[in-house]
Amino acid sequence: MISFLLLAILLSPALASKVEQVHLSLSGDMTEMVVTWITKEPLPNVTPFVVYGVSNDALRWTGKANTTSWKSDGKEGTERYTHRATMQNLVPGDVYYYQVGSSLAMSDTFRFSQPDPSKPLRAAIFGDLSVFKGQPTIDQLISATQKNQFDIIIHIGDLAYNLHDDDGNVGDAYMNAVQPFAAHVPYMVFAGNHEVKSRFHHIVNRFTMPRNGVYDDNLFWSFDYGLVHFIAINSEYYAEEMTIEAEAQYRWLEQELKKSKATWKIVMFHRPWYCSTKSEKGCHADADKLSRKGVLGFPGLEDLLNKHKVDLILYGHKHTYERMWPIYNKKFFKSEDPGHIKNAPAPVYMLTGGAGCHSHEDPADEIPQDFSIKCLGEYGYTLLKVHNATHLYTDFVDTSVLEGKLLDPFFLEKN
Ligand SMILES: *[C@@H]1O[C@H](CO)[C@@H](O)[C@H](O)[C@H]1NC(C)=O
Ligand SMILES: *[C@@H]1O[C@H](CO)[C@@H](O)[C@H](O)[C@H]1NC(C)=O
Repeated sequence: MISFLLLAILLSPALASKVEQVHLSLSGDMTEMVVTWITKEPLPNVTPFVVYGVSNDALRWTGKANTTSWKSDGKEGTERYTHRATMQNLVPGDVYYYQVGSSLAMSDTFRFSQPDPSKPLRAAIFGDLSVFKGQPTIDQLISATQKNQFDIIIHIGDLAYNLHDDDGNVGDAYMNAVQPFAAHVPYMVFAGNHEVKSRFHHIVNRFTMPRNGVYDDNLFWSFDYGLVHFIAINSEYYAEEMTIEAEAQYRWLEQELKKSKATWKIVMFHRPWYCSTKSEKGCHADADKLSRKGVLGFPGLEDLLNKHKVDLILYGHKHTYERMWPIYNKKFFKSEDPGHIKNAPAPVYMLTGGAGCHSHEDPADEIPQDFSIKCLGEYGYTLLKVHNATHLYTDFVDTSVLEGKLLDPFFLEKN
């Protein structure tokens, strides 16, 4: 009994400095991989780091981590320590192993393949995911990751429901639940309406997105991946009436689109502009519309995205899947084959907010809009495969069935 107690006391500093919530992200440089993790206690007099290498038993390289301490915005003001380190000089396509931690405690060893932009890109994209209803989606993302089916996973807002709840314990539980995929594949995120609390406190402090979005705070960013330029926009600046940020973001977006020479441009934000709802008018919430057409102080984004020939626009917020014809300014462009659109004259829109949130929406209760091609209420995510410069493929993966089921094959082609 006594020795057990003694052991517990001796072990406690190590337990407190336990590594958790390990996740990868892209920095924008395809020879790097960023790893972020959390400890619940400070690490006095030791330096946190990542060790990595090409074989499980030879983690020969080290990267020092930066640590940020931050308090939850809840009643307890729980303090957490976010550690961020970058693995460098990686060879695209090669497999790496890594561990993170400090001399007090280390994580398990994780494995990843450095994304290879010369190969077709394979991504899983979704919004609105929690442990509560999203476990089947999380399980399938874990199993897909083990089979090396994805190069990146992108979460288009609304995480965990909510990262800040119960002093952030809900966020911790979510981040630990997704670790089995997020520690193996870069997990890219940005904010939805569920992340706005205390000026986006949790999404700012828990993640490490590319540092090219004016404020360096994970809220809007971009990266190039082979033929694709991905851009994440914060639609919450509009809903929260943050004019200064909305204008800064607009100016940044304009430069991003102007300078990009990528073959495919994919833009993502949380709040939908076009979708079917119970109302005949479709998506029509003022807070959502504002970012489309804009008003004084809030520059509308639709003209800009259309002018720069963005190929695909993805959003969430509404908890269904819906694929639409190319649309510009409420006008849609129908062509022969809804499963294979060629040389679209405007961006193709996709809603993919049904990964597994707190509430479910059923398309059967909705009035399909003229611009709508397919509307699904099943839980799941969107699979994106960029084959080459002429062919981009997407599909919806229904995760309510074991092994997943593909429900909406779609080719976007251009020459
Ligand atoms: C750590 O901080 C330094 C200085 O601000 C910065 O240059 C570096 O990129 C940071 N590293 C990571 C992994 O965030
Ligand atoms: C591009 O990918 C599509 C779909 O896989 C394929 O049919 C086509 O032949 C490819 N084009 C080139 C130039 O490889």
